[in-house]
Parts: sequence; structure tokens; C-alpha cells
Amino acid sequence: MEHVIEPTWEMLHTNNIPYKGKWREMVFGNNNPITLELGCGKGEYSVGLARKYPNQNFIGVDIKGDRIYIGAKQATEEGLKNIVFLRTRIDFIDHFFEKDEINEIWLTFSDPQPKKSRKRLTSELFINRYRKFLKPDGIIHLKTDSDILFESTEEQIKLHGYKSLFHTWDLYGDINQLPEEDQETLQIKTYYEQLFTGKGAQIKYTKFTI
Ligand SMILES: C[S@@+](CC[C@H](N)C(=O)[O-])C[C@H]1O[C@@H](n2cnc3c(N)ncnc32)[C@H](O)[C@@H]1O
Repeated sequence: MEHVIEPTWEMLHTNNIPYKGKWREMVFGNNNPITLELGCGKGEYSVGLARKYPNQNFIGVDIKGDRIYIGAKQATEEGLKNIVFLRTRIDFIDHFFEKDEINEIWLTFSDPQPKKSRKRLTSELFINRYRKFLKPDGIIHLKTDSDILFESTEEQIKLHGYKSLFHTWDLYGDINQLPEEDQETLQIKTYYEQLFTGKGAQIKYTKFTI
């Protein structure tokens, strides 16, 4: 499908990903910065960002093909040229990008993994994977309904000396503290955000560098 990249088993297991280090030239055909959304689901955030920032590139990553199909279809219908979806496990994400190839990462309503802290997308294990390709000043954004995930991310930030740029337990209560452009970006609502806020959840947000 247009807008979807799905590596073969062989590519992954021989660590031979043709776009590694070449996403700008091979996939996007420009030299613009690239943002990743990990666990993008139906892709609302990636599509929303791609619409808002035509001079940046976006890659939504998820393992579930039926979910990214929805984002990819939307991107095709809108004629967006600056977005693709990558179908893979995030556990292999460092196989896909070269050092400094990625400018920012969004984690949107990631699974909180209450019993398996290593599997959280902000665990040391995952952060060390991101470190291999995220620019040194590259921002990681986390938007979540989960107290467990938010609290453990805050702990990781302190424990490893990452640089916290902003954090709030009540995003929509504190949103006016952020620049107008960030406010607009943070208003994009994913399927899971709508689901959780419908049940009365308070949305938490943090951004940091590693
Ligand atoms: C709770 S959903 C959130 C989806 C979307 N960001 C949203 O807010 O609607 C978590 C998503 O992460 C994906 N996911 C979880 N762990 C993953 C992994 N290890 N590799 C790839 N995708 C993963 C799931 O398939 C699911 O679509």
C-alpha cells in the first residue's frame, strides 16, 4: 500500500534495511527533518503533524497493520507526501535508522506495561535504542493517560539525568503555559486519547532530551 513500508523477515534478520541512513533521499525525496511516532495506532498524530508541518517528514510506527492502514489511507486521500508508516515491532527500531537521522520522537498513549517495566517505551532499554539514531538535542514527547507510565518516565528522567523540558499531570489545565504552536500540536487527539478522556482520564504530558 502507498505510504506503508513493511520490511521483510530477511531484511530484519540480516540487518540489511535499504532505507537505513537514506530515508530522506529514498523515501521522502527531500532533506527535511524526520519525526517518529512510536505505537502510532491509526496514525492520527502523525497525520495531524504531517498536515501542520509540510516541510517536515513523519514516520508512524506500529506492528498492527489494520491500524496503520487507516492512517495510510487518510494520507493517500489527502495527498500528503511527507508521511509514511513503518510496520514493525518497536523493539527493532534501531535497525532502521542511522546515527542522528531522527529529529524528534512522539510516544502517544503507549501501552503502560504495568507488570513489565522494561517493555515500557521510556525504559532504559528503549531509550538506549533511540539514542542510536536520535539527534543529541532531539526531543522525546510523551502524551499519556497512564499514571504508571507517566510516573515511571519521570523517574527515568531523574535517574538518568535526562533534561526535562516541560511536564504536567494535567495537560489541558496547564496548556496555556506552552507556546501557541505547541498548544496547537498538543490538541491533536488520537483514537485512544478520545477513548480515555471519554472515561474521564486526565492527560499527562512530558517532553525531554536524553
Ligand atoms: C494503546 S495503543 C495507542 C495507539 C495510538 N497511539 C493512539 O493513541 O490511539 C498502543 C499502540 O502501540 C502498538 N504497540 C505496542 N507495542 C508495540 C511494539 N513493541 N511494537 C510495535 N507496536 C507496538 C500497538 O499495536 C498499539 O497500536
